[in-house]
Amino acid sequence: MDKPERSPHPSGDNRFKLLDRTITRHHGAGNALIEVLHSAQEIFGFLADDVLLYVAQALKRPQSQVYGVATFYNFFRLKPAGKHTVVVCTGTACYVKGASELQHALEKRCGCKFGETSKDGEVSLMQARCIGSCGLAPVAVLDEEVGAKLTAAKLLERVEAWLGGGKGAAVGGASAQETRETREEAAP
Ligand code: FES
Repeated sequence: MDKPERSPHPSGDNRFKLLDRTITRHHGAGNALIEVLHSAQEIFGFLADDVLLYVAQALKRPQSQVYGVATFYNFFRLKPAGKHTVVVCTGTACYVKGASELQHALEKRCGCKFGETSKDGEVSLMQARCIGSCGLAPVAVLDEEVGAKLTAAKLLERVEAWLGGGKGAAVGGASAQETRETREEAAP
């Protein structure tokens, strides 16, 4: 089976590297398009035009087919639900390393569950099955940034920054200070 040939995405966005792994894994499979679109949505939070174009080129499918599939199924989102997106990986490696603590802290802070957006429309929470960076578990994608070896405190620190440095009470829930986890530095 031939592997897809493609250049790195010109944006330098690391999330495309994660997507490449899924594309390589599924390339040539009958359901490759659906699987890759699922992974793309898990990684990016929604399917933007440039992501759909990237998938079409990588899988050597017509753009019309990729757009057609993305718009046909209602579980695919073409626009972001919230202003910011956090996708927490809940695959096995991340689960073992504490993904559920990340989930609990985020849901408490944002006042919404995975698959939902905070009432003020600021943050959408999502989960992914595995985004291919198990060695850096637990992993989450915060907008365009891949966070590695996260703790709940570190994750909430980022969310607080989005929400205006502690004025995020508008979205309800606990503040970052309420979490007692020790911070860890992300892997190099
Ligand atoms: S299980 Fe989370 S990156 Fe693989």
